[in-house]
Amino acid sequence: MKQITKSVYSVGVIDWNMRSFHGNTFITKSGVTYNSYVVNDNEPALIDVVHKGFEEEFIKNISEITEPEKIKHVILNHLEPDHSGSIEYMAKVLKNAKFYGTAKLKEGLLKYYNLNIDITVVKTGDKINLGNNTLTFVEVPMVHWPDSMMTYCPEQKVLFSNDGFGQHIATNKTFTDEVDCGLIDKEVAKYYANILWPLGAMIDRSINNILKMNLPIVFIAPSHGLIWRKDINKVIEKYLSWAKNTVTNKAVIVYETMWGSTEIMAREIARALTDNNIEVKMFDIAKTDFAEIAYEMLEAKAFVIGSSTHDNEMLAYIAGFIHFIKGMKPKNRIAVSFGSFGWAGGAVKEIATNLTSFGVEVIDQIGAKFKPNKEELNNCYQAGMKLVEKLK
Ligand SMILES: Cc1cc2nc3c(=O)[nH]c(=O)nc-3n(C[C@H](O)[C@H](O)[C@H](O)COP(=O)(O)O)c2cc1C
Ligand SMILES: [Fe+2]
Ligand SMILES: [Fe+2]
Repeated sequence: MKQITKSVYSVGVIDWNMRSFHGNTFITKSGVTYNSYVVNDNEPALIDVVHKGFEEEFIKNISEITEPEKIKHVILNHLEPDHSGSIEYMAKVLKNAKFYGTAKLKEGLLKYYNLNIDITVVKTGDKINLGNNTLTFVEVPMVHWPDSMMTYCPEQKVLFSNDGFGQHIATNKTFTDEVDCGLIDKEVAKYYANILWPLGAMIDRSINNILKMNLPIVFIAPSHGLIWRKDINKVIEKYLSWAKNTVTNKAVIVYETMWGSTEIMAREIARALTDNNIEVKMFDIAKTDFAEIAYEMLEAKAFVIGSSTHDNEMLAYIAGFIHFIKGMKPKNRIAVSFGSFGWAGGAVKEIATNLTSFGVEVIDQIGAKFKPNKEELNNCYQAGMKLVEKLK
C-alpha cells in the first residue's frame, strides 16, 4: 500500500513473474503490475480490481486503509481480465459496494464471469460523491477496448487512466520520476507500440476530449506501472504524436535467414545508412521478441524487411512478424524488401506485396542468388542509399 495524495492510496499488486502478456505477443522481461487505487472518504471507493490469483494480497493491501466491507463504490474502468480477473472473488468480499462501468463493460463482464452483482452504467460526465471527494467518468473507447473509461477525482487532481499511459514494468517504486528516465521513456513507448499503436485515431479523440474538459491533472495514475506526477504534459504530447503516426528518420531492419546470405545483405543495407548517419536498428527475427522490435518501429519511417526463399515463400517467422506489424496499421512508412534465393525466388516479392497491401510504400526490392556477390552487394548498398535520400 502506498499513499499518493491526502485521500488516494495505491493498493495494487506486482506480478514479478509475468513474462508473456497477451498470450505470447508482449514479452514483459521484468514483469508487470496491476494497479488499483482506494479513494478514502466517508464512502470509500476502489478504482479497478486486479488479475486473478492475487486476491489475498490485494485484500490485505485494501485492509491497510479500510475494511473491504466498507468500500461503497467500485469503479471498473476496463473489462480486460488483467483488471477484472479477480472480480468474482472480490464481489463477494466487497459486499456492500455498488459497481460502476460503461454499458460495454457491463455487457462484457456478465459474459466473462458468473456474477451476481448489479452494475450501474455510467457515461462521460456522470459523477459520484464520496463525501469530501467526487469521481467523474470519461469514456475512452478503444483506450484500450470499446468498454474503456478513465475516472477523474477533481479534489485530488488525479486521473485514473487505466491502460492509458501505462508501462509494463515490475517495480515497487511509485512514481515515474523515481526510476531512470531512459527506462520510463522506453517502457511507455513499448507499451504504446504493442498495445495501443493501431488505435491512434480513437486515442487522439479521447485525449482531446479530456484536454477540452480543462481538468487540472497533477497525477496520472495508470493501471500498469508507475504513476506520473512529473512530465504529465510531455507524456500526453507523446501519446498525441504516436496517435498521429509521427515518424523520425530512422530505419529498422528485420530479417530471417537459413544460411546467412540474407543477413549479409542486411548488413550491407545498414552500412549505407550508417555511412550517412541515419539511425538504424537491425534484428534477426529468430533472436528477438516481436514486442522489442515493435517498440523500435513505432517512430521509424523506414521498415527494411528481408527473408530468404523457402519452398517459394518467405520464411515463417518473418511472415508472422509482417502479419503482426500489419495489425499495427502503420502509416507514413517507406520500405525496402530483400533476401537471398536459390532458383526461382519468391520471398522478396511476397514481402513487398504484403507491405504494399497495408499502405507501406515499398521503394526498392533486392534479391541475391545464394551468397551475394560484389554486384549484388552493391545493389544492397544502393537500396540503402535510396533510403538515405528519403530519410535525410
Ligand atoms: C528447405 C529449403 C527450401 C528452399 N526453397 C527455395 C525455393 O522454393 N525457391 C528458391 O528460389 N530457393 C529456395 N531455397 C534456396 C535458398 O533460398 C537459398 O539457399 C538462399 O541463398 C538462402 O539464403 P539464406 O542464407 O539467407 O537463408 C531453399 C532452401 C532451403 C534450405
Ligand atoms: Fe487492456
Ligand atoms: Fe491492462
